[in-house]
Amino acid sequence: MKIAVPKEILEGESRLALVPDVVKRLTGSGFSVAVEAGAGAAAKFEDSDFEAAGAEIVGSAKDLWGNADLVVKINKPTDEEIALAKKGSALIALMWPLVNPEVAKKLADAGITSFSLDQLPRITRAQSMDVLSSMSTVAGYKAVLMAAMESGKFFPMLVTAAGTLAPSKTLVLGAGVAGLQAIATARRLGAVVEAFDVRPVVKEQVESLGAKFIAPEASGDEDAGGYAKEQSEDKQKRDLDLIHEHAKKTDIIITTALIPGRPAPLLITKAAVEDMPAGAVIIDLAAEMGGNCELTEAGKTVVHKGVTIIGPVNLPASTPIHASQMFAKNLMTLISHLVEEGNLKLDFDDEITSGTCITHDGKVVQAATLKALEGSTNA
Ligand code: NAI
Repeated sequence: MKIAVPKEILEGESRLALVPDVVKRLTGSGFSVAVEAGAGAAAKFEDSDFEAAGAEIVGSAKDLWGNADLVVKINKPTDEEIALAKKGSALIALMWPLVNPEVAKKLADAGITSFSLDQLPRITRAQSMDVLSSMSTVAGYKAVLMAAMESGKFFPMLVTAAGTLAPSKTLVLGAGVAGLQAIATARRLGAVVEAFDVRPVVKEQVESLGAKFIAPEASGDEDAGGYAKEQSEDKQKRDLDLIHEHAKKTDIIITTALIPGRPAPLLITKAAVEDMPAGAVIIDLAAEMGGNCELTEAGKTVVHKGVTIIGPVNLPASTPIHASQMFAKNLMTLISHLVEEGNLKLDFDDEITSGTCITHDGKVVQAATLKALEGSTNA
């Protein structure tokens, strides 16, 4: 089977789907790998590193896509990329088909068997293939570093000849994968950390990282997949008040709360921002889904009454070496799951295959994507 790695063309993207170490393991197990010339440049991987790992370097995207049995990408393909793909070939990428169902339709029409990494089920067996967890880890870490750079205060307590400086108080909203990494990173930098989540099950994890869990009323707000459920209006109001109270004494807020397929929940009101200490910083990792803070603007920095609110987009791309390495390892595990003796084996009774496979045999085959497609056609 010939695997191809194109250069990512999304603006600001610096990651790529495979790194030389992983290419070496794939070529060692019988795959042939082709990499588009310069695909690794933004992540500091040279073409010669890929060649040394056994890959062929291909100068033209047309040749790369046209000769591949399986194309692996970070971001969803553009129309131009889909047009380059060979009928009957396969594609793995982060396609977010529930918000971009039209991509699925185009892939089906082009006769491409596609797998979307964001649709991987959150089950123990799939943990080693989970690129969302990997990218959330990168984002949680980087968000804290951004906050530390932007803040006018130290994170740790410092006892100096010029006096004792109090540690920064950090509040992390949403203690999933990104939130837990943010807590760990802020603690390593010496901040005093509090965290809030609607899933009471995370309390123990928060505390094991040395942070204090701000408990909303326990209500078992987790769905069968381990994700949060949307809150009732009444409960949301009480959560907003609780966060507002804590925000008054907080220097840094890292906010990561998401609900799959829904806009991000509002957790920080404009009034809460206005009550934060001057110089406070909010990093809103939910910016791309509408933001957890009322004042967030995706991709922008807003300063409101002395408080800086940053809504970063594609934060994992700012740490491209490790982000690509994690992505590539997760991808290799998924490829080993889907391929047997050089051919795709599609067992639709397997949760991982049926969850991730979006299109096959000229049709959209994943139930959730079909539903999203119907919704977008009826809209
Ligand atoms: P996510 O990115 O969808 O959400 C981030 C966090 O925001 C979650 O902890 C969620 O509870 C929280 N949140 C949502 N609405 C909120 C609100 N109104 N107020 C406060 N917090 C709110 O979730 P993520 O981080 O991708 O994963 C969530 C959980 O899924 C993990 O903690 C873990 O238990 C499970 N998981 C399981 C995996 C596996 O078994 N393969 C892999 C990754 C995650």
